[in-house]
Amino acid sequence: MSKQEAGANASSRVVASRRSSAVSRAPERRPAEGPNRRGQEARRGGRGGGWTNPSGLQQPVAPGLREPPLCFGLKNAWVGAVIGRGGSKIKDIQSTTNTKIQITKGHLEEAEVRIFGSKVMQAKAKTVIDNLVKKQENYSSKLRTDIGAFQPSVGRDVKTDNNVTENQPLIDWDQIREDALKWGKKKWEDLPPIKKNFYVESEATSTMSQVQVDNWRKENYNIMCDDLKENEKRSIPNPTCKFEDAFQRYPEVMENIKKAGFQKPTPIQSQSWPIVLQGIDLIGVAQTGTGKTLSYLMPGFIHLDSQPVIRGQRNGPGMLVLTPTRELALQVEAECSKYSYKGLKSVCIYGGGDRNGQIQDLKKGVDIIIATPGRLNDLQMNNFVNLRSVTYLVLDEADKMLDMGFEPQIMKILLDVRPDRQTIMTSATWPYAVRRLAQSYLKEPMIVYVGTLDLMAVSTVKQNIIVTTEEEKCSHIQTFLESMSPKDKVIVFVSRKATADHLSSDLILRHVSVESLHGNREQSDRERALENFKTGKVRILIATDLASRGLDVLDITHVYNYDFPRNIEEYVHRVGRTGRAGRTGISITLLTRNDWRVAGELINILERAQQSIPEDLVAMAKRYEANKLKKEMEEKLGKPQGKPQRFYY
Ligand SMILES: Nc1ncnc2c1ncn2[C@@H]1O[C@H](COP(=O)(O)OP(=O)(O)O)[C@@H](O)[C@H]1O
Ligand SMILES: [Mg+2]
Repeated sequence: MSKQEAGANASSRVVASRRSSAVSRAPERRPAEGPNRRGQEARRGGRGGGWTNPSGLQQPVAPGLREPPLCFGLKNAWVGAVIGRGGSKIKDIQSTTNTKIQITKGHLEEAEVRIFGSKVMQAKAKTVIDNLVKKQENYSSKLRTDIGAFQPSVGRDVKTDNNVTENQPLIDWDQIREDALKWGKKKWEDLPPIKKNFYVESEATSTMSQVQVDNWRKENYNIMCDDLKENEKRSIPNPTCKFEDAFQRYPEVMENIKKAGFQKPTPIQSQSWPIVLQGIDLIGVAQTGTGKTLSYLMPGFIHLDSQPVIRGQRNGPGMLVLTPTRELALQVEAECSKYSYKGLKSVCIYGGGDRNGQIQDLKKGVDIIIATPGRLNDLQMNNFVNLRSVTYLVLDEADKMLDMGFEPQIMKILLDVRPDRQTIMTSATWPYAVRRLAQSYLKEPMIVYVGTLDLMAVSTVKQNIIVTTEEEKCSHIQTFLESMSPKDKVIVFVSRKATADHLSSDLILRHVSVESLHGNREQSDRERALENFKTGKVRILIATDLASRGLDVLDITHVYNYDFPRNIEEYVHRVGRTGRAGRTGISITLLTRNDWRVAGELINILERAQQSIPEDLVAMAKRYEANKLKKEMEEKLGKPQGKPQRFYY
């Protein structure tokens, strides 16, 4: 059964009301769109409240209501094709012919179609339906012929014992590949040229010394940049420290920034703008709330306004921003309107919103589409949107889009976007899945990564994770301390003062020289301990988090996390105690079952710093997730309380 048919069968009697589907242009309070929702809604027979079941039957109220309806039969098998995916076709027929259409599925072979409206329009709607049915019939009969034509050759060429004879035509993969390439080229021929480079470096930016550039990056949360182009690397442009360094040639952009009252570019903006304005693909990785939206919107405005083909003749949007959720799409749209540039028109396309209204907006002509992948893919498949004109593409919050399972929709959308576009991707994290996505859809990008001070250090530390038990921790650290060379200097982090005392006395008893640092010790003792550690008189320091804040010892070679810290930020902070000032460091972290809730985040950090990830850590993260899910389910269903529960459907 096709999806359309499944949709139609879900309710035996369906009424499409144009009025009800067009009521609310304002966003409905619904959870964010996700792929699973799409499935559910398709099964319900559509979105936007346009379909009702028999009990909630709405009386059609089209013009020409007094006209008797035009009634005719329709094979049940074609109902799906007439209704369309999620009710798209029938809604379209109704809106173009100004009619109401009611389809009642019969128990036998036939459904009854009733068209309400003026006589002329009834006839017009019927013609459209007849054409749809004809097309469907042709398609089905062609399918039968093709299958028929194929069968004899199978009988002729393949022996019944499945041995392939010499006569069997071989699949010519080379030919297929060649054809695919040819079609790919054909698909994109005759496209207008794209202009991408609009950057003129300001005097202030071009005269920055390397030291000034390094300092700026360091002081701005350690901006790290890299050119991911293979072989010859391009030089990373200097950051634009002031707004006018990036936009002095665009007074309207400057005016908008002034109106917003911003003081200076955020770190990610300062380093992204000179890259994006040059037309280079960019991956921007920075935490939420760091101004990533304007890092791509401002250059995007300039890109759109400066294309060789003028706006009115482009026949479709020039910029496409894909975002994971409706809320984010609306936020981006709000920024778009707030900084509106030369009257560029933007539209927001998201699941849960009024589909018909969105289609009408698209028909009016737009420059910028901000969309969630699910809904855009739906409109794309129904030919409501032309993506061939897009020259500036943004994958916003890519990590979240992947988490929400949007990759297949993104893939399908991007099949229709010209490959020589400029692409920007933003993400708050940089795990393997996001890297893979970047590799597939960006061309020779540069990456700008804004971390916290310590994340920088983390990448120079070899991070080892040992999954163990509380009981075994002691023997692990003993083995480690015995393996230390005389030049090593280690800070051992513990979570409690008692553990610090216990560990240090244990080591002292075994004639190992250690110092400990925790809040219960006298200030003078703490200072002495730190001094001994700094000068190297003592090479092992056992410390709690609180006591180690602000600890600045440059030559620590090892960080040993005897207990895992309270949170992942603290982990990053601790690990950053080593690997400082250009040195490389090593960290060892003991993790027990009690720490399983951080396993997922820890994997993220390790991936980001390109460290190896032990399998038992992955297993731990999976167990935690499964357990979380189970708990949530239990909560939803209500915990079983003694007696077995009954569910009624
Ligand atoms: N240069 C700036 N100075 C101050 N605030 C800014 C600047 N750029 C953007 N903002 C504001 O910061 C907030 C967060 O920006 P946003 O782009 O949504 O962050 P992200 O996409 O990184 O999560 C927004 O309210 C935005 O208007
Ligand atoms: Mg954002």
